[in-house]
Amino acid sequence: MMSARTIGQLSECIAVLTKKLEEEMKGNNIKSPTLGDDNESFVDLSSVDQKAAMELAGLAGELQHLALGPRQSIGMMALSVHDASTLGVVAVFDIPRLVPLQGSATFAELSTKCGMDQDRLTRILRYAMINHVFREEPAGHVRHTAFSAHMAQNPHFCDFLRTIAMVFNPANTFLPIAIDRYPQTQSIHQAAHGLARQTDKTFYGWLHDNPGLRDNFDKGMEGISRGGQRMQDTDLKAYPWDSLPEGAVVVDMGGSGGHFARDLAETHVSFSVIVQDLPLVIQSVVKQDSFMQATNVTYQEHDLFNEQPVKDADVYFMRHVFHNHPDEECVKILKALLPALKAGARILISEYMVPPAEELENSMGTKAMRQMDLMTMALFNAKERTKAEMVDLFQRASPRLSFQGTHQIPEDPGSCIFEAVYRL
Ligand SMILES: C[S@@+](CC[C@H](N)C(=O)[O-])C[C@H]1O[C@@H](n2cnc3c(N)ncnc32)[C@H](O)[C@@H]1O
Repeated sequence: MMSARTIGQLSECIAVLTKKLEEEMKGNNIKSPTLGDDNESFVDLSSVDQKAAMELAGLAGELQHLALGPRQSIGMMALSVHDASTLGVVAVFDIPRLVPLQGSATFAELSTKCGMDQDRLTRILRYAMINHVFREEPAGHVRHTAFSAHMAQNPHFCDFLRTIAMVFNPANTFLPIAIDRYPQTQSIHQAAHGLARQTDKTFYGWLHDNPGLRDNFDKGMEGISRGGQRMQDTDLKAYPWDSLPEGAVVVDMGGSGGHFARDLAETHVSFSVIVQDLPLVIQSVVKQDSFMQATNVTYQEHDLFNEQPVKDADVYFMRHVFHNHPDEECVKILKALLPALKAGARILISEYMVPPAEELENSMGTKAMRQMDLMTMALFNAKERTKAEMVDLFQRASPRLSFQGTHQIPEDPGSCIFEAVYRL
């Protein structure tokens, strides 16, 4: 529902929420965060009350729009592509790690260290500083803020930012051009990705031909899961994994380098977890000694569209897989699983859940989900789905796939594991 609050009313709501959050922090002995150069691990307001923190961010955003008005506000929105482009340069050149956590580095020093000319580096960093990524003090000296320090201290998070910048955002910026060219399409072959990269290949086919970007993408998948918008901890907490039998076999389909599988196997040592992915991904994983240490995790090349080779597993888990595929392809993936399923086998799909229209909030949480939804549109002409849409996919694949329900946790209300059970 559209808000109709004046700036006065908004500021009152902001004051009430802020007081409540600060009191909670005080009660929990948590220092209220600032964007200064505090290099302790950044503890944000969501650590006390995720819902209230999101609401506060939404109110502050609304206040900003009212303060700027339509001309300024929408004009800036239109060019906010440079919020992303500057962040991309910062991550690609690993600049947070080039600035000391205590002290400063000059633009000239950073230019020498990262090999980018000083003029462009300075302009890019001065833009990033408007978003509180670094600060300049005194003139010519770059220092950390809490945000840039967070980037310096969380390499997985930077991997994720590099993937967004180098692999995803070219397609994201081509969305208007692609929809102008193909206004009615649902084809994966007419997604913005193809126009951005001037290729007829689908995203994963193209990635196969670009091993450097493939590697960047695989690291980014671990990055988003361990430090980005959708954390895999949510999946570990949301599903009752303990209720599976001792020695359960779990197949992590499209499991990338096995970052989720390794965490699951570590917390459930009796499980056998099999990670399946495309050949290039598995071939690169098995070369990495550190990935091969868990004895209850194995890796297997398998194409999602071919018949599932692991028969009678207890769970077939797919995380961030369905949102890479239009509906028809998701149904094909489920159908390819059917010959392998024993009675009671569970299929778990982990994605964002799009709420039904009447429950949709105009909030920052919705924005994060919508950003992912539009990214899947740009890359694949795919989507994030509602519960009804997910149920429909199971039903179209087989009447034997009985939808059991959803698994969520309050700290991460947008994320969901959808569960279906195979019944004979
Ligand atoms: C968005 S990533 C998600 C990775 C991981 N599940 C996670 O949550 O981080 C999707 C994965 O599906 C894999 N994939 C795409 N098409 C596939 C196919 N036809 N067969 C097997 N894996 C595929 C990709 O290589 C990629 O690792």
